[in-house]
Formats: sequence, C-alpha cells, structure tokens
Amino acid sequence: MNKVVVGAQWGDEGKAKITDLLAADAEVIIRYQGGCNAGHTVVANNKTYKFHLIPSGILYGNKTCFIGAGTVILPESFEKEVNELIEEGIDVSGLKVSPLASITMPYHTEVDGYSEDNAKKGKIGTTKKGIGPTYTDKVARFGLKIEDLYSPEALNEKLDVILPLKNKTLEKVYGLQPYSKECVLALCEKYAEIFRPYVCFDWQEMLENSRKKQILFEGAQGVMLDVDYGTYPFVTSSNPIGGGACTGSGYGPKMIDEVIGVAKAYVTRVGEGPFVTELTDETGDKIREIGHEFGVTTGRPRRCGWFDAVTMRYAVLVGGLTSVALTKIDVFDSFDEIKVCTAYKDTRDGKIYKSYPTNVYIHKYLEPVYETHKGWGEDITGIREYNKLPENAKKYLARLEELLEVPISIVSVGPDREQTIFRG
Ligand code: IMP
Repeated sequence: MNKVVVGAQWGDEGKAKITDLLAADAEVIIRYQGGCNAGHTVVANNKTYKFHLIPSGILYGNKTCFIGAGTVILPESFEKEVNELIEEGIDVSGLKVSPLASITMPYHTEVDGYSEDNAKKGKIGTTKKGIGPTYTDKVARFGLKIEDLYSPEALNEKLDVILPLKNKTLEKVYGLQPYSKECVLALCEKYAEIFRPYVCFDWQEMLENSRKKQILFEGAQGVMLDVDYGTYPFVTSSNPIGGGACTGSGYGPKMIDEVIGVAKAYVTRVGEGPFVTELTDETGDKIREIGHEFGVTTGRPRRCGWFDAVTMRYAVLVGGLTSVALTKIDVFDSFDEIKVCTAYKDTRDGKIYKSYPTNVYIHKYLEPVYETHKGWGEDITGIREYNKLPENAKKYLARLEELLEVPISIVSVGPDREQTIFRG
C-alpha cells in the first residue's frame, strides 16, 4: 500500500511523527513539495531530531529517501541538515535529490525577507526562507534547477537570460544589491559540490524500479496552506494536498492507495491569515503551553484554537484524505470542556456556513458555531489501545469521525513512537 501523509490543517500537525512511524514499512520515501520552510520534529532512540527537507525516514538507515522535483532547496540549509545527520552517525547513503528540484538562490531569500519586513499591507508572515520567490521564478521559467549545476552550457545561457532582469528587479523594486555573473557562477560551483553525492540523475530508473516497492509520500505544510486551495493569499507557494504527491514525485495518481491527513485535536497556525476558531484568551495560552506550540523553523509562538470541522471537512475533500491521524489529543487531559467548531456564522446576516467559504476576506465577519464535549480528566499518554481510552475521549473521537466522514486510523497520545494507537 502506497501512502501519502498530508498535513490537514495549517501545518505543524505532527506529520513527522506519523511519517516516521509509517516509514518503518516503506522502502522508498518521497518528499514532494516545499522546502526548508517546513520543520519536522521526530523523537526516536531517546533523541530529538529536527528535519526541514530531508525525509525523516532517513533515521532508519535502510530506506531510499528521495527529495522530488516539486521541492525547492536552499543549498546551505540542505548541507547543514545532512552534516548534522552524519555527525549523529546516521547513514545517509539512501538520500537522493531530484535533478529537477529548484534551487533557492540568495536573492530569493533576500526578496522574501525584504517583502516581509517592508510590507505595510498584505504581510503573509512567511518563514523568510525564500520559498515564494523560488516558486515564482520556477513558474515564470526563470529558475535554476539542480541539473543546471552540472551543465555549464545551460547554466551560462540561463544566467544570461535571468540575471539582467533579476538584477533590474533587485535594484529598482527592492533596492537590493545586484548579482554579477561571476558571483552566481561561483555560488553554483559551490552548490554543485554540496549536491554531488546525492543528486539522482537516474531518477527515472529509480522510480521505475520502485514501482513494486512500498512508497511513502511525505507532504510538508498543510492543506489550508495549499497555494490553490488554502487561505489564499495567506498560504505557502506549493501544493501540500494529496494531489501534490503526483506532480512533486513523478508518479501518477494510480500509484497512491491511501492519503492520511494528519490533524491535531485542536488547530494551530503560524504567520498571518484567517483563523476562525483562534483563541486569544487564556484557553489559547493553555493549549500553547501544554502543546509546546512554538515554530521549529522560526521559533514563533503558534496561534492556537479549537478543532475546526469546517476546514477539516474541506481538507478531507480537496486533500483527498482517506483517513485521519489525530495527534496531541493528550493536550486536553486537564481540560474540563473541549469545543469543536461545526459551522461558521456570518455576524452580518446570521448566514450559516457548513462548507468552507474560500473567500478569506469575509472570514473576519465569521464566528464559530461550537458544540461542547466533556473532558476526560486523566492522563492518557500511557494508553496504547483504543478500547482503554476514557469513554469521553472515545466519544470525542467518534464525533469527529462522524463530522469528517472518514475514519480516524491513528491516535497519537504523545511525541514518542510508542505513544501511538493504531486502529484496524
Ligand atoms: P512560506 O512557506 O515561508 O512562504 O510561508 C507562507 C505561510 O506558510 C506562512 O504563514 C508560514 O508561516 C506558513 N508555513 C510555511 N511552512 C510552514 C510549516 O512547515 N508549518 C507551518 N506553517 C508553515
């Protein structure tokens, strides 16, 4: 069974732990979109590992971990991540990078930082890792791909087209320093060395040979940050949805058997953008504190709120989810009451939205319609069987399944691999 792991909310749902668990049965793991904007924390062998781009399956030491064509790679960040793993004694011989992946150049990071720092209106709250500008150049056919680093002729020709226009924009629009061709060529030489041990020129053969193997597709960010379906424009610049696994990996849809959407028992978001169930009171603070809700990549405190079944049903639809892995339900162990948003109400005219309204500019007028569930008032972090969960926790899970119309196949009750309940 080939599986895709997708973030079902705004990222940071605990995908890394679920991917890490499912990777045990996979032979090939493919990261299909995004870049080092992602931050995945995995606790294994009593150690905490932080990943940004490299599939966490690398920890197993015997898997092919492929970074696909749909990703964008900041070479220095990739190098740092690989070196840290090597220093920890992790075998990285299975790591492969698609020659078609896009390169984040220093000017992409500079433009991202400039846009964020100088935005008077329309700030996105990006991770400033150059993600948006790299994808912009890719789609504008102005980008550099890893394969260009090993083809001096192509690189030369491309830079002659890219640089004059790029420099004009850097100087005139952003007031930033231009880049000489010599400087970019020197950078590319350095990047070629960084990627040399990992670039997979025979990726077609590798995908062909992997057809009969178990494949795990690893998404980053989440459905609500998808550039086509998320809370646009407050999104990332790629397709975290299940469908993104095809374009980003090089496999067709028939290669996918299951799409597992990872969701927290509550919702968090970093950066700007609408968030109807956001809690700006002490309940939100309590969730943040107990759930340790601070960004892995930027350290920013995450915005916290109640579970939102409106966006989740939408994520089931557009994300193509076949089941849900619910994480961090143990964060509610000390809560007397737990709320779930089942609809939105427009405060202007009382209109009820059961489906997700995609025009985010009306979200400021929306308030959540909640139902309230009783807490279970006990520590569930040691429970390993579904039937042993307190009755109120089971009721809560059953209600979420009813609302989402897909099964909750995995329940996570803590960060460790062992703190997981598999169902069926
Ligand atoms: P970018 O991907 O850096 O361009 O940021 C765009 C939006 O996506 C911002 O709101 C970021 O906070 C958010 N974002 C990007 N990557 C992640 C992630 O891994 N987890 C959560 N939010 C993310």
